[in-house]
Amino acid sequence: MATTLIKGGTVVSATGRGEADVLIDGETIVAVLAPGSELLGTDLTASVDTVVDATGKYVIPGGIDAHTHMQLPFGGTSASDTFETGTRAAAWGGTTTIVDFAVQKYGERVEDGLAHWHELAAGNCAIDYGFHQIIGGVDEDSLAAMPRLIDEGVSSFKLFMAYPGVFYSDDAQILKAMQISAETGLLTMMHAENGPAIDVLAEQLVAKGNTSPYFHGKARAWQMEEEATHRAIMLSNLTGAPLYVVHVSAKQAVEQLAWARDNGQNVFGETCPQYLYLSLEEQLGATSEEWGDFEGAKWVCSTPLRSRAEGHQDHMWQALRTNDLQMVSTDHCPFCMKDQKELGLADFRAIPNGIGSVEHRMNLMYQGVVTGELSLERFVELTSTTPARMFGMYGKKGVIQPGADADIVVYDPNGHTSIGYEKTHHMNMDHSAWEGYEIDGHVDTVIARGKIIVDDDQYLGSKGDGKYLKRGLSQYLL
Ligand code: URP
Ligand code: ZN
Ligand code: ZN
Ligand code: ZN
Repeated sequence: MATTLIKGGTVVSATGRGEADVLIDGETIVAVLAPGSELLGTDLTASVDTVVDATGKYVIPGGIDAHTHMQLPFGGTSASDTFETGTRAAAWGGTTTIVDFAVQKYGERVEDGLAHWHELAAGNCAIDYGFHQIIGGVDEDSLAAMPRLIDEGVSSFKLFMAYPGVFYSDDAQILKAMQISAETGLLTMMHAENGPAIDVLAEQLVAKGNTSPYFHGKARAWQMEEEATHRAIMLSNLTGAPLYVVHVSAKQAVEQLAWARDNGQNVFGETCPQYLYLSLEEQLGATSEEWGDFEGAKWVCSTPLRSRAEGHQDHMWQALRTNDLQMVSTDHCPFCMKDQKELGLADFRAIPNGIGSVEHRMNLMYQGVVTGELSLERFVELTSTTPARMFGMYGKKGVIQPGADADIVVYDPNGHTSIGYEKTHHMNMDHSAWEGYEIDGHVDTVIARGKIIVDDDQYLGSKGDGKYLKRGLSQYLL
């Protein structure tokens, strides 16, 4: 088996950093050594197959993006990244594991939805992948199927308080699913927005001629996120189900999560780069020569981008520091403007929801270290270690230690990356939500289960390198 030595770098974990060399044998990390050490009298540099020089660079656990939607059917079209293109883009950006959402809808069997997702992903991924299960139709059949997900390595499922008629569950359905979550340890993931009320607000806006993307943000008011988050917390409190709220964007929703956690509940929250950087005013309200006021469609996602005047973005950074929010995922769900976002030219309700960021999460979050919002260790924790623990992968993933999968990024803090340009990113999109973002830092080398898949701006991986991860129950519960 091939051996690799990552030499001379600063190895970073969620709890500290230090100069060390990392020895990889095949797919596994076998030793983290004092700099330049010999092993049983052997000079490692001379005896390994490959030496990666990490002098002056950070050696961090490969990124884990626990919220992606490759090929998701939505609004009459499908997310534009396949498992092949999306995982390759992820690899380019220093992410070595994704957890994507298998889909079950009303009238479909959970087993069939999961099997279909396996078909889409198998043999196509550049990096390792796991699945959560969307339960879009809670009924006796899907409730009975839920405990069996654990044997399949699917230890978390997502419900939607939004999107009536599509993925929506009412409170009775949520209660029943949460009872199973409490009994089995399956983690309940929640899209917390009051969908029925939002649909009324959206209809009223459109009736008055307010059809542009900006009004997507107006209809999906923060009160709708706060209210749903609170309701989910109370149902979790009642049932004892562990609860993970996805794509949190409203500061009031964060306050609900903090309150529940102070109350001792197993309640957690994730935010996404778009809610840290982008806003209702600047992006959803944007205009361009090409698209007029439809420009904002590039940033239509749910929950929506929030008002900067209201201070949500700053609050998200703060919550990441104080652990009121535990993780950053992308909610990667890309749609092209042509033929996809365009479906909603006359009515924002028909714009497929989602932003593509899977390639940029590590770079964007590292900017938090540059600006002093996050420590280097917290950056590693938010982007890799906690995702691994939250979703039952820790030990193999999320940490650089003997016995772990050799998923490692050599990150150059003195490098530079222009991340957003349509022609330079690797996601299957005709635009970028991040055009013009300049990054202090650079993903130099990406190693996935021992194989160098990105090196010096060259892609060396291939489709099929990534394997399905059977996940265990969450290792993060209080
Ligand atoms: O806008 C979004 N978030 N699209 C993906 C589906 C979801 O709700 O996560
Ligand atoms: Zn969602
Ligand atoms: Zn999502
Ligand atoms: Zn570099």
